[in-house]
Order: sequence, then structure tokens, then C-alpha cells
Amino acid sequence: MSDRVLSEFRIGQGWDVHRIVAGRPMILGGVAIPSEFGLEGHSDADILSHAITDALLGALALGDIGMHFPDTDPRWKNGDSLMFLRHARDLVAAQGYQIANMDSTVILERPKLKDHRPAIRGKLAETLGVPLDRVSVKFKTAERLGPVGEGLSAEAQAVVLISR
Ligand code: C5P
Ligand code: MG
Repeated sequence: MSDRVLSEFRIGQGWDVHRIVAGRPMILGGVAIPSEFGLEGHSDADILSHAITDALLGALALGDIGMHFPDTDPRWKNGDSLMFLRHARDLVAAQGYQIANMDSTVILERPKLKDHRPAIRGKLAETLGVPLDRVSVKFKTAERLGPVGEGLSAEAQAVVLISR
């Protein structure tokens, strides 16, 4: 079989961490989570959207989120991170790829996130332009270990597969 008839797959991985602070919103996958504290950052500090954006850019080998959206740029101050995700989604489409699936994990001690899973998956599926059953969002505590476990920070990890 020639290479031409084989579909081409590429994988991408992304990770992000932000500090937890009082007086900031907690936005995860574009969804505002009711919480007494939020995530510190130049943009809206949506770690999940940032990790997925990096996974998409990684699959394309097009650098990382900071290269496309420098955090020194006043345009992105308190910015909606779904915009970064849409940018990466458009780069994927421009190269003729489709997102096969996306899987992610948010690591956060509290609040509990599982009740927000449908809203977060829905927002991400809509933003990525893929069916809901291709979008997975998982939640874990850090079992009170390390900075995440002590409630000082939150992390997100994402992997994507794209194909054409
Ligand atoms: O971290 P742990 O294994 O104890 O998490 C158990 C479950 O609790 C997870 O599978 C997830 O469904 C839920 N969880 C959550 N919100 C968090 C952390 C975990 O809903 N911040
Ligand atoms: Mg970030």
C-alpha cells in the first residue's frame, strides 16, 4: 500500500499549571466553576483550555501557546482562553486534519468538579467542533500531596489525536 492511501495520524500532548488565589474566577474549559478561590494568570488562567491548546499545537509541531499568545501582550489580559483553543482548532483544520479525540485530566484538590463535567465537555466539544463522544474530561485530586494537594495550585493535562 502506498503512503498516500494510508490516513495520517498525529498525536499531541499538553500540560499547564496555575496558582490558586482568592478573588479570581475559576474557569475550566470555558466554564465558570463556583468556588471561593480561582486561578491566577495573565489570561483567564483556564488551565484546561491551555493544556488542550498546547496538545493541538504539539500535534502540528507548531510551538506552544506562549509563542502564539505571549503573556506580555496586553491583548490577552484576562482574556477568554477559548480564543486560544479556537486558534489552535483552526490551525488543525487549515492543515487538513480532523480531531479524532481529546482526553484530559484536571488535577485539583477542591472544589469537586464532577457535576460540571457535562457543561465542560459540552463547551469544549462546541469550541473544538467535534461530537461530544470524542471529548473526555477527567478529574483527580493529588491526595493532599505536593502543591496541588496543599491547594496552592491546579494542573491540567491533555492529549489529542488528529487525522487526515
Ligand atoms: O483523586 P481521587 O482519585 O480521590 O478522585 C476520585 C474522583 O473524584 C475522581 O474520579 C473524580 O470523579 C472526582 N473528583 C472531582 N473533583 C475533583 C477531584 C476529583 O469531582 N477536584
Ligand atoms: Mg496557562
